[in-house]
Amino acid sequence: MQSKHVFIYTIGCQMNVYDSQQMTAFLASDGYTPTEDIDTADLIIANTCTIRAKAEQKAFSFLGRLATAKARRPGLIIAIGGCVAQQEGERILRRVPHVDIVFGTHAVSRLPDMVRQVAQRRCRIVDTTQVEGIDAHEFLPTIATPSPVSAFVTIMRGCDNYCTYCVVPHVRGREASRSASEIISEIEGLVAGGVREVTLLGQNVNSYGEKEGISDFPELLAQINAIDGLTRIRFTTSHPKDLSEPLMCAFRDLSKLCDHIHLPVQSGSDTILKGMNRQYTRSVYLDRVAQLRTYCPTIAITSDIIVGFPGEDEADFQATQSLIDAVGFDGLFVFMYSDRPNAAATRLPEKVAETVKRDRLQQVLSQQEAHTRRRHRALVGQTVTVLVEGRSKQDHAASGGVGARLPVQWMGRTDGNKIVNFAGVDEGSGERRNLTGSTVDVIIKKALAHSLWGEIAPRR
Ligand code: SAH
Ligand code: SF4
Ligand code: F3S
Repeated sequence: MQSKHVFIYTIGCQMNVYDSQQMTAFLASDGYTPTEDIDTADLIIANTCTIRAKAEQKAFSFLGRLATAKARRPGLIIAIGGCVAQQEGERILRRVPHVDIVFGTHAVSRLPDMVRQVAQRRCRIVDTTQVEGIDAHEFLPTIATPSPVSAFVTIMRGCDNYCTYCVVPHVRGREASRSASEIISEIEGLVAGGVREVTLLGQNVNSYGEKEGISDFPELLAQINAIDGLTRIRFTTSHPKDLSEPLMCAFRDLSKLCDHIHLPVQSGSDTILKGMNRQYTRSVYLDRVAQLRTYCPTIAITSDIIVGFPGEDEADFQATQSLIDAVGFDGLFVFMYSDRPNAAATRLPEKVAETVKRDRLQQVLSQQEAHTRRRHRALVGQTVTVLVEGRSKQDHAASGGVGARLPVQWMGRTDGNKIVNFAGVDEGSGERRNLTGSTVDVIIKKALAHSLWGEIAPRR
């Protein structure tokens, strides 16, 4: 079979990163190998996101830039997948004349077939069919990225929560979970290939298996915890309304489950939470956080905040700020509210001005910076266990072009998901070892704004 090259441009969440890996895996059997060089690609895929208007614009501007490449190389096949494809369907064929394939969020496994048809018949194809449930044949064993040590595994897709600002239920379809046995065998395969950490993905992982009446999420975690050779388990995202006591116990009881939870709160105002259809109040959120901390006192908690939801006034915004101080998050993602097609809040009249949104965004970012610094500073002098992912970005050996030499500086993460860069010379022997994939005890020496700096702890 002649070797052909596929270039995939991925925008959006970790689930899209996983889906891009799936695209690579499905296309491999048709002779496609991934390339980083867009100019030599026979097939270019944009895997897109529409969570905010900006993400959607990014997808169309990428597609726009491909017009000249297509004119120069008519044999080039251009496909758009992911959430914008699902949302816009065949409208994309009219808007972008050089696009050949539009494939939705449930169509990844059918991509090779569509590509073959386009190559043979030079037709244009749209497939945005969505199905209830989730089948084994829709997934292939994945390769480990973003690093050889850590891999993503989708355990469920879709969402049934219909938060009023959110496009996800409209573009990813109804919630459905994969079977535990499939998930376990996928992870076992990854571990056999050298992976030490998995991040389980879903829009609302703590309702895993609920609809199907298969195992529940804490049970699944316990099964994964038993896999030999796996060091760490992470998951994202959990909805605060479904943060159950058994899940809190899992943080205490399962040795491989990392002490970190991403628990998006969105707002600290009850009026806004109601308008968002989040199904919890400020005090329920704060109570759950307090309870979680009794089960796992060291747990790192990160969250998402939306500023400028329709109707958010100064008092609502202050309630968000006071919640941020009350929890003292380890990290925050902050977003300006953006109207989305089909999302109910788009129809709400009291829109907040862009300038106000921008100002609130800045206020929250600087407020959080102080919390992040405080959390980082508290780790100075402590010994933390780091799972090494590879060479540090600041490594001088990397920039000096020393090629095969082992790095001087390494990068990894703590249990609580904090990035640690450290010098990699073994104190005892003075030797340099390849540390990728190993867990190393590191003494934290310096707290920076976005990471920590340390040295390998002397062996006890
Ligand atoms: N399923 C996850 C989050 C998915 S989207 C959850 O339930 O939390 C990731 C984040 O994007 C959301 O948590 C929210 O903070 C933000 N977001 C979603 N829709 C948005 C919109 N219309 N405007 C601004 N931010 C949005
Ligand atoms: Fe969107 Fe809400 Fe579902 Fe998260 S839980 S994906 S924010 S609808
Ligand atoms: Fe974006 Fe779709 Fe993920 S809208 S955030 S890529 S689910």
